[in-house]
Amino acid sequence: MSDWTLEIAVRRGDGPLHRQLGAALRHAIADGRLLPGARLLGTRALARRLGIHRNTVLRAFADLTADGWLETVESSGTFVAADLPRRSPTAAAGPSYPLPPAPPPDDRRPPDDPDVLAFTSLPDVTGIPQAAWARAWRRVLRLHGRRALDYADPRGAAGLRAALAHMLATTRGLGIGPDDVLVTRGSQMALYLVGAALLGPGDVVAVERLGYAPAWRALAAGGARIAPVPVDRAGLDIDALAALCRRAPVRAVYVTPHHQYPTTVALTPARRLRLLDLAAEHRFAIIEDDYDHEFRFDGPPLFPLASVDRRPVIYIGTLSKVLAPGLRTGFVVAPPPVLDRLVACRLTIDRQGDGVGERALAELFADGEVQRHVQRMRRLYHRRRDHLAALLSAHLADAVDFDLPAGGMAIWARVKPAVDLARWSAAALEREVWLMAPAAMTADADPPPGLRLGYARLDGEALTRAVEALAAARAAI
Ligand SMILES: Cc1ncc(COP(=O)(O)O)c(C=O)c1O
Repeated sequence: MSDWTLEIAVRRGDGPLHRQLGAALRHAIADGRLLPGARLLGTRALARRLGIHRNTVLRAFADLTADGWLETVESSGTFVAADLPRRSPTAAAGPSYPLPPAPPPDDRRPPDDPDVLAFTSLPDVTGIPQAAWARAWRRVLRLHGRRALDYADPRGAAGLRAALAHMLATTRGLGIGPDDVLVTRGSQMALYLVGAALLGPGDVVAVERLGYAPAWRALAAGGARIAPVPVDRAGLDIDALAALCRRAPVRAVYVTPHHQYPTTVALTPARRLRLLDLAAEHRFAIIEDDYDHEFRFDGPPLFPLASVDRRPVIYIGTLSKVLAPGLRTGFVVAPPPVLDRLVACRLTIDRQGDGVGERALAELFADGEVQRHVQRMRRLYHRRRDHLAALLSAHLADAVDFDLPAGGMAIWARVKPAVDLARWSAAALEREVWLMAPAAMTADADPPPGLRLGYARLDGEALTRAVEALAAARAAI
């Protein structure tokens, strides 16, 4: 062991030092880092290196020798027992059993670099009512700590379900009560529960061809098959969906009707009604992802499909955009037998949500904090949308065209054929601006050249810098 590079550390406070040393040497032998017959460092040298007493090393060696791991040769030293089987060194991190193919890398995440300006779908979290929130947490812990920290209703805290039901009834035309709501950890869990509870291997789920891939992965986790349907400037192409339904039984359709992800278009009223009719005819479920309902700037808000007919719709919403994604709070509204199945499934993977956090959130709703925050954010995002639109027109008119979205958190920019999007994106990243590749939004081998330019998290100055950098990158390619 004189040229031994093995890392061994013993720590005071982690149990007897001679045992720690013995365990470390045993592991090194068992996983092939110390081979049979290898000579160990002398006891003095090892004690010095580890900063422990020599007697501790002697004791560890004696124990291992007694157990047959080591052997001592008079006046020559201590060795790993020669008759132990030879083990090949193992990669420390890998399991010893086979794994299914690795999941695809997450190409939706911008680089983890604060200097990079990223066009993402993330909200601005700088203005969340932190002080009021902290007070609500403290109040809940003080007044309801024991109950809030116990096993509880898997549907979520009653107060939060009541607040959400009230919000959905008053702002989205869903005539529902608290028992119609299941609180989940983000819409992502809601989508996963729908997949697990309602879809089996081979079941067909129609999705928007340009769309939100994390939802598809959640819905398909149990073996369901994703069938992309085209999207145009009026939203999901219902004729194409009808044709798909004639070819194969469709079990569910996942849509983002309010601001289609990523193209931001609203599903027109005529298409909404046709979708509901088609659902009745072919008996499929409509999974309505209403992720940014609050942010409509031009004209009145569009009511969800679920407000027209709740029976075919599994309605999913989130507080990730309204408040913060790290809050992990989403919700589902569905007919009682569907909700029961989702709840049963939730019990198997997560039991319940965060009792303290849910109660604190309910207090924020009761105090009007969430509602005031939404109004502030709506005004802020409205200004940012207009600012970004003006910048695109001024600096990038030769590279992209776009329709001003009526709301939401992003502008969908169609990239002109003359522009090589991959090269443009790479040149932009060199200038510290990140663009999500269209491949992250479709399963198509040849994705249409479009950019979802999420503006919500970028203030006016950041938007200006980012678009100027995009123009410079465009000029450089
Ligand atoms: C289409 C869509 N649905 C839902 C979400 C929110 O997901 P979650 O509620 O799991 O944070 C997002 C966030 O980017 C989204 O773009």
